[in-house]
Amino acid sequence: MKAYINGKFVAADGGKTYPVYNPADQSLLAEVADCSVAQVETAIQAANDAFQSWKKTTPQERAILLRKWFDLMIENKESLGLLLSQEQGKPLQEAIGEIVYGASFVEWFAEEGKRVYGDVIPTTAADKRYITIKQPIGVCAAITPWNFPNAMITRKVAPALAAGCTMVVKPAEDTPLSALALADLATQAGIPKGVFNVIPTQDAIGAGKALCDSKIVRKLSFTGSTQVGKILMRQCADTVKKVSFELGGNAPFIVFPDADVAEAVQGAILAKYRNAGQTCVCANAIYVHQDIYEAFVTQFTQAVGQLKVGSAAENNVQIGPLINQAALKKVEGLLANAVESGAKIVLGGNRHERGGTFFQPTVLSHATANMQIVKEEIFGPIAPIVSFKTEEEVLQQVNDTQYGLAAYFYGNNIRQIWRVAEALEYGMVGINTGMISTVVAPFGGVKESGIGREGSKYGIEEYLELKYLCFGGLNF
Ligand code: SIN
Repeated sequence: MKAYINGKFVAADGGKTYPVYNPADQSLLAEVADCSVAQVETAIQAANDAFQSWKKTTPQERAILLRKWFDLMIENKESLGLLLSQEQGKPLQEAIGEIVYGASFVEWFAEEGKRVYGDVIPTTAADKRYITIKQPIGVCAAITPWNFPNAMITRKVAPALAAGCTMVVKPAEDTPLSALALADLATQAGIPKGVFNVIPTQDAIGAGKALCDSKIVRKLSFTGSTQVGKILMRQCADTVKKVSFELGGNAPFIVFPDADVAEAVQGAILAKYRNAGQTCVCANAIYVHQDIYEAFVTQFTQAVGQLKVGSAAENNVQIGPLINQAALKKVEGLLANAVESGAKIVLGGNRHERGGTFFQPTVLSHATANMQIVKEEIFGPIAPIVSFKTEEEVLQQVNDTQYGLAAYFYGNNIRQIWRVAEALEYGMVGINTGMISTVVAPFGGVKESGIGREGSKYGIEEYLELKYLCFGGLNF
């Protein structure tokens, strides 16, 4: 498959390609253009040329094109879902769900673009008037992750385009096919050449540096690890680029003693095992009050035991493979360390009999807050369960981290609910629910989990500059 630059599908320089495999069975899915740094520069230039006219279109004109793009995504959700599940590994229904989720950002921002208002500021001088306007920031770049090959692109591209910006996307090396499928639909929708560009490459470092160093690119949006986010942020410093980052998480899932245990179990399954534990908002460790610890572990283990592991092509599968061998090794290392430190395997604990990168859904009891598996983002289907005695103790434990993306808790005492919701140092908090993601709410973290917000009415602000206009000499 070719790269998408300036409205055309083009081969990489020298015809260079790299293989993309299905993580479920390692079968070859496609040979994909392996773009050079020079092609990244070409894409930036194309985006800059396109920006000169795209910024002058009205929000209504842009909305019509974005709406067509949304319609095409929904019309093609089955085939897009199939492609996504093949390159990423998530079960087919979950993959189709991601297409619908991804499309929702396009629909939402098509409309939000029409509501970019400025201010009229009451004057302080009789001959002056002050107003603010909002303008597109310019050419934007996005570096997107493999765990949501569709939705993490649309969550960035849709607000950018709606605001009047143009975009160059470097998709994750493991999952470029969904990005290129989106590009194909963008052409069909009539989105002008150069407005949206996709540059697959194996040279993540070179491409990332070119995007950061470019004086033309005015904004970088990145979803990925905190470690890489810090490198990109340093690289963006020289051009004082605006950045929005959605970085690593380590979401605690707390169950207070008055919680409905059965509901908490269902919420924990959703929060822990979505995408085989490979989302930034997946619950990392589960903290359960000592009075209900045994009951929770028993019911949770029973529910996890029902989860069916398999490839995306099979029916009623809930857990797919991990993305690659490195992910598998990381999960195994964390598990071994936890067991050495005293955690007990209640369920699972091994590579799955299907082989490849499949791992058994695993439950660990007797986990403690200082274990590596609790402190680090697992990104896999392992649930360490920690027992706690008091609200104060658990809050201290879960806030003692550099991360601050999502947190969840279950309880029924309204005073405690408000107290805990306010005390949690996280950007998003799920209360009596294990699923918080929706286009209408702001997605993002605090501390080293990120900068800025995506989705919602706030997401478009990341792609706008506020300009102040001071009208003088108004002596009348
Ligand atoms: C992520 O894992 O980065 C995104 C998850 C979501 O949008 O729910």
